[in-house]
Parts: sequence; C-alpha cells; structure tokens
Amino acid sequence: MKVTIVGAGAVGASCAEYIAIKNFASEVVILDIKEGFAEGKAMDLMQTASLNGFDTKIVGVTGDYSKTANSNVCVITSGIPRKPGMTREELIGINAGIVKMVSTSLLEHSPNTIFIVVSNPMDTMAYLVHKSTGIAKHRIIGMGGALDSARFKYRLAEALGAPISDVDGMVIGGHSDTGMIPLTRMATRNSVPVTEFLSKERLEQVAADTKVGGATLTKLLGTSAWYAPGAAVSSMVQAIACDQKKMFPVSTLLDNQYDLSDISIGVPVILGKNGIEKVVNLELTEAEKAKMQESAAAVKKTNGLLEV
Ligand code: LAC
Repeated sequence: MKVTIVGAGAVGASCAEYIAIKNFASEVVILDIKEGFAEGKAMDLMQTASLNGFDTKIVGVTGDYSKTANSNVCVITSGIPRKPGMTREELIGINAGIVKMVSTSLLEHSPNTIFIVVSNPMDTMAYLVHKSTGIAKHRIIGMGGALDSARFKYRLAEALGAPISDVDGMVIGGHSDTGMIPLTRMATRNSVPVTEFLSKERLEQVAADTKVGGATLTKLLGTSAWYAPGAAVSSMVQAIACDQKKMFPVSTLLDNQYDLSDISIGVPVILGKNGIEKVVNLELTEAEKAKMQESAAAVKKTNGLLEV
C-alpha cells in the first residue's frame, strides 16, 4: 500500500506520522511545494522509525508528482488553513485553485487512486475533485465526519465524566461550524442512550461545543488543528488499506440518498479496499432531516462559488 500526502504542513505531517506508526503502509510520500520542506519532515519522521517501531518508508518530495506514481490512496491537505475568526468557507478562493491542480496532477501518475480530501472548505473541495477529475464517486472521500465525531465523543465523555472508550456517537452533515449535525439522539454510553444520563440542555451544549470544535482550537492555536485531523485520516486510510469495511461519516457525492443529489456532504459510509463501498441510510427524524437540508443548502451555496 502506497499513500501520498500532499501538503507537508501540520495536518499532512500528522497524517504521515499516524499512518507510519500504525505500520500498515509500505510507503508514504509527502509532497509539498516549499523547497526541501517535505524532505525535512520525511527525514525527521524516518528518524522516529526505530524508536516507534515502524517499517513504513516515508519519502519527501518538492513538487515532483512522478514520485507519487501508483499511489493507492492520495490525501489532499494542501492549501491554507484558517486563522482565528475565519470560517472554513472563506478559504475557497485560494484553496479551490490548489485542490484542482493537485487532484489532476495526482491522477496523471496514479490513475486508480482513491482520494481523501482534507483541505477546506472540505465538502466543497471534495465536490470540486469530482468536477475536475470526473472519476467514480466511490473513489473520492471527504474527511470531516470522522474528525467531528471524535470531537463529539470527546465532549460526550467530558459531560458524562466517562472514559472516551465508553462512548459512541456520530456527526453527519457539512464540515462547518453551523452545518455539523451531532446525532445526540443516537449517541450511547456502553450501548445505553446518553439521553438516559444527560439533560436535554447539557446535550445541546455538547452539540454546540462539538460544532465549533475546529474553531475553538483555531482560536487557541492561532491556526487550525492537526493531531485529530491526522488521526482521523490515518484511520480512514487504514480502513481502505486493510479492507476493514468500517463505518465512518464522510463527505460523499450523493445521488438521491438523504433526499440530496449533486452535493458532497457527510453521511455514514462503509470504507474498504474500493473506497466508499456503501452509503448507510439512517432513519432520521423530521427535525434531523430539516437540519440536513439546511446544512446541504449552505454547502451548495459555497459550491456555487466554484468556477468549474
Ligand atoms: C478542523 C479542520 C481540519 O476541523 O477542518 O480542524
């Protein structure tokens, strides 16, 4: 399994690190446009191999797409991250051009690759990869829901005073401060609905804190987060590499599922060796359906800003 990660910034490097530590990939190529930067990150990470016990070979390259040839999975993290006070949507002007160029360049050297799109505004960037490459929809996966669900579980565990391993929950909808839909109704503590333990008000607070999870970190760090995004990507790459048939909420191009079409937005799917192997249809309540439509309308509005 060969994985390419475009962008050697904090998120890209964190993806490479977690993928390497999990030791399922033979090679990880990190590509960046800044001279020597990816080479430096790769060398630093390779010098952790004997300490962390992995055999994955990590290679850094400056702008040389030929080194990415025949990648099974390509992760796109390139573009600019948000600064405190910015929304993910405000990044579209710069990131759309970058993501379009990067996805077409990758495809030239890895015609059968599966894409994982991380760059923001992510749902729109995943949609852009569809429009600019025209490849089958099961091969384009937007990373948002896995991260947002991890943040949801963190907030649920905090509210419950429980270990995170006791908690399960999922976030669907757009990967934006207003578009995320934490499914509090379905969240559980060791299979017991969390509604048994937490008041409606406390659960609303958990949902609100989850939705601004990325913004909260951007404010604290001065730039957007990287550990949890990297961990989320690595879990998704592992599900594909090891054909795990594992369920993740991801941004995928919908074709009448959830009453939506011609949009990439977060819904649960099964990830395996072919990428998205199935979209899982949840029975949503009327209120959840309305939230999904509202979230989709916002994503479509951002998609409307694309020049494709
Ligand atoms: C975040 C970025 C990766 O939510 O969108 O941290």
